[in-house]
Amino acid sequence: MKESILVIGSNGQIGTELVADLRVIYGPQNVVATDIREPGYEMLNAGPFEISNVLDKQNLQAIFEKYKPTQIYLLAALLSATGEQKPKMAWELNMEGLINVLDFALTYQTKKVYWPSSIAVFGPNSPKNNTPQYSVMDPNTVYGISKLAGERWCEYYFLKYGLDVRSLRYPGLIGWKSAPGGGTTDYAVHIFHEALKNKTYASFLSAETELPMMHMEDAIKATIGIMDAPAELIKIRSSYNVAGMSFTPHQLGEEIKIHLPEFTLTYLENDPRQAIADSWPKSINDDFARKDWAWHNQYDLKALVKNMIDNLK
Ligand code: SER
Repeated sequence: MKESILVIGSNGQIGTELVADLRVIYGPQNVVATDIREPGYEMLNAGPFEISNVLDKQNLQAIFEKYKPTQIYLLAALLSATGEQKPKMAWELNMEGLINVLDFALTYQTKKVYWPSSIAVFGPNSPKNNTPQYSVMDPNTVYGISKLAGERWCEYYFLKYGLDVRSLRYPGLIGWKSAPGGGTTDYAVHIFHEALKNKTYASFLSAETELPMMHMEDAIKATIGIMDAPAELIKIRSSYNVAGMSFTPHQLGEEIKIHLPEFTLTYLENDPRQAIADSWPKSINDDFARKDWAWHNQYDLKALVKNMIDNLK
């Protein structure tokens, strides 16, 4: 059967890379990129593009009607730091957007839906190290609350209506092809650009703030991997923990110095993102993903830093 793949939120950090990879696999014409804004020249000309607004049901329905998607990737969201500045808007976009898409997926008999969750579903009372799939979850950011609620809705649509929804709890994502926006883990991308341009970077997270991270290539591999897996292997229908590596700003800075010895790293104080980071796990246990659908990561810190510097140079 010919696939018709809809990516909603295609201009973002994940969307930019995912659309490109999906187009290689399924053919450019079969992957429809959609976002609230028009993309740059390259994306606009690489395959079909539509303006989408997940909060505008009429607009969304017109897109479903036109493309009858067999697969959907819903990536439109406000991230953790922006969410704290605009809590109501984050809740509305992250929650109503998800429900609107799930409902149209049912109406138009979409075969599979992908929706990203995050390590932000965990909170101050979740275990910090090797955080398990199932544990206390008391997120205290609007972003985390919306992701945890969203996970529950995904599982609900699967159990009640048989909708094949699949999801991953991404850690911080680091890639050289696209820029992050509005997240707490963004420092780990900005640091590379600043190291190469100015040989120095001021981190908004403290030296010892350890967070789970992943190379974007691994994240895309996990995303396409869970969507390609036979449905019966996907045993968790809320969202899977997935892990790559964990490091602190200090450890990342030391690794960058191996390649750029003149690099200096300083630290800002009193950034609101520190509290968000402090509420999240330091490292993640992803045994279920490894066992259920054979997830494995490729990049560790060393390989990530080398890859980022080689490509951004
Ligand atoms: N990277 C995201 C953020 O920092 C977490 O999902 O908001």
